[in-house]
Amino acid sequence: MSKAPPKRILVTGAAGQIGYAICPMIARGAMLGPDQPVILHMLDIEPAKQALEGVKMELIDAAYPLLAGVVATTDAEEACKGVDVAVMVGGFPRKAGMERKDVMSKNVAIYKAQAAALEKGAAAGCKVLVVANPANTNALILKENAPSIPAENITCLTRLDHNRAVGQLAERSGVHNTKVKNVIIWGNHSSTQYPDVNHATIDGKPAREVIGNDEYLDGEFIQVVQQRGAAIIKARGLSSALSAASSACDHIRDWVLGTPADGSYVSMGVYSDGSYGAPKGVIYSFPVTCKDGKWTIVQGLSIDDKSAAKMKATGDELVEEKALALECLAESALGPN
Ligand code: NAD
Ligand code: LMR
Repeated sequence: MSKAPPKRILVTGAAGQIGYAICPMIARGAMLGPDQPVILHMLDIEPAKQALEGVKMELIDAAYPLLAGVVATTDAEEACKGVDVAVMVGGFPRKAGMERKDVMSKNVAIYKAQAAALEKGAAAGCKVLVVANPANTNALILKENAPSIPAENITCLTRLDHNRAVGQLAERSGVHNTKVKNVIIWGNHSSTQYPDVNHATIDGKPAREVIGNDEYLDGEFIQVVQQRGAAIIKARGLSSALSAASSACDHIRDWVLGTPADGSYVSMGVYSDGSYGAPKGVIYSFPVTCKDGKWTIVQGLSIDDKSAAKMKATGDELVEEKALALECLAESALGPN
């Protein structure tokens, strides 16, 4: 085993689908690299306790060289203690007959409570990635309720959408996905997100030139990426798990170890400073580069009117979600009548 001291990685909702996919990826080094030992902290809720124990047993049975320990618990404070990275996957799924507000109210309450546990126990400098939906707004609620964690340390996952856009361009052009660079996901991890190819390149040439079909890029391509989550649910009867887990590893790896030296960028949901006219005070997906464990929004990209309208629409949705989330929290603070 490497001599580096182990890093503690929290995965909430670890007994669920994404949890089952991501824990082995982390234990194999896909998140922090092949020389970094890890201790997995897995959190789930009481009804999933037995399944969580089963995941722990399998992780031990796999004898991963980088895995220096496993904590499996249903106690949020125990789970958050000393963690360097927190991947927040746990949440309440939408059930038949539930309104958007019902799901939002369950999830924001979870993220408020877990913010407190993280604030109390996480290691200084802990990096937080929220995966559970509504990912941007859960991340915002976590940020609002963990004031001692710097806002720049709290992010949400839009890398899956980014990778989906890369995958579509690679399939369409017949060029390997590693040659597709600088696609951007703007805004919310929802069907209003704007997958933007205006700065993307394929094998070093402008994506629009290589694809040679603006009607496709401005229509079907955008819709396929926006609706990919729903298409996976339709095909599998379950929401995306291996691609979500893999993209979450990409997000943290690039954040911690840096984006490529060629200056190419990736998409991350981060606390908005109002760049590109995005609303301030929400978690909005931007193009970023990362160096020395810090992300920076890529500045100076030209934005045409069509793009600006799409970026505004997804920003407006985030402002609405924020208002709804705050309303849910205010109602829960008043308690049942
Ligand atoms: P899942 O239902 O299989 O697993 C969720 C797990 O969370 C369950 O084991 C559940 O017991 C646990 N859980 C519930 N409340 C909890 C709490 N308070 N604390 C800790 N754990 C708790 O779901 P999944 O397929 O793994 O998906 C997880 C979430 O990720 C969902 O919200 C899904 O919509 C979202 N998702 C986001 C993206 C993205 O790109 N951002 C992609 C795919 C899925
Ligand atoms: C996805 O993009 O695959 C998920 O966010 C879909 C979902 O609703 O869980």
